[in-house]
Amino acid sequence: MRHMLNPLDFSVEEIDQLLSLASDIEHHLSQYAHVCDGKILATLFYEPSTRTRLSFESAMLHLGGSVLGFSSANSSSAAKGESVADTIRTVSCYADIAAMRHPKEGSALVASMASNIPVINAGDGGHQHPTQTLTDLMTIRSLTGRLDNMTIGLCGDLKFGRTVHSLIEAMVRYPNVKFVLIAPDELKVPSYIRDDVLKAHNIEFKEVNSLDAAMPELDILYMTRVQKERFFNEEDYIRLKDSYILNKEKMKLAKDNMFVLHPLPRVNEISTEVDSDPRAAYFKQVQYGMYVRMALIMTLLEVQKPC
Ligand code: CP
Repeated sequence: MRHMLNPLDFSVEEIDQLLSLASDIEHHLSQYAHVCDGKILATLFYEPSTRTRLSFESAMLHLGGSVLGFSSANSSSAAKGESVADTIRTVSCYADIAAMRHPKEGSALVASMASNIPVINAGDGGHQHPTQTLTDLMTIRSLTGRLDNMTIGLCGDLKFGRTVHSLIEAMVRYPNVKFVLIAPDELKVPSYIRDDVLKAHNIEFKEVNSLDAAMPELDILYMTRVQKERFFNEEDYIRLKDSYILNKEKMKLAKDNMFVLHPLPRVNEISTEVDSDPRAAYFKQVQYGMYVRMALIMTLLEVQKPC
């Protein structure tokens, strides 16, 4: 039995196969309508979500399976003090696979150790969000035709932004990928990413404050929201929340073939006037998220492709 807790749980070759399956699903959706008939996905969300939870549910429904679950800790027995381990043992009796989001780092790992069914980490605190990374990889590969030889700018809250941490870990495995890390000093990437991932892999990267100066060299700009829910005091959040706002003027500094990604939800960091720019790819990214989660469910349940 396999879980998906971290993007590195899958080799580069396995990720490649998974993205190819997701692409096949995108182009032949109806052929996959019954491959998970009779299977049940549990969505265990202790933290709010729109895209991740609904895309998992939509993915399983598109595969012919069913879904059950809860969308907040308060509507589960966590509110009465039940542990994650006991919850997943219980859910293992009802479902074939589970996607779990939890505010505490490491909670998906704890769940996987007690589980009798595959566990997918749908976000654990400020740590990892591997299925967002699969979404990001599919988006980049679909739009540019490659996952190597590119400069990626990551902008915003690089300290608490778990999607950033997962994406860096995944992308350092491809040749000639460079990073420009654009953040205020207080929101730089944590040392376990800077030292243990980027420096340890001899990856070319720089840490800067200016988005304008970075724009011309980027192939991908990955914008992120300042993560209000992870701040210890509101004053700091208010001071930092509008550090970067991508607008039409800034887009003029970018390459014609640069793409803007964002895991969403956005707050102010991308002006809505950018949405109509052909380089704005964040809603396409949402669509790719469902296909890639369909491919992941099939892979973890060892469901065969239809003939
Ligand atoms: N990208 C993402 O995780 O969005 P949600 O918080 O809406 O699931």
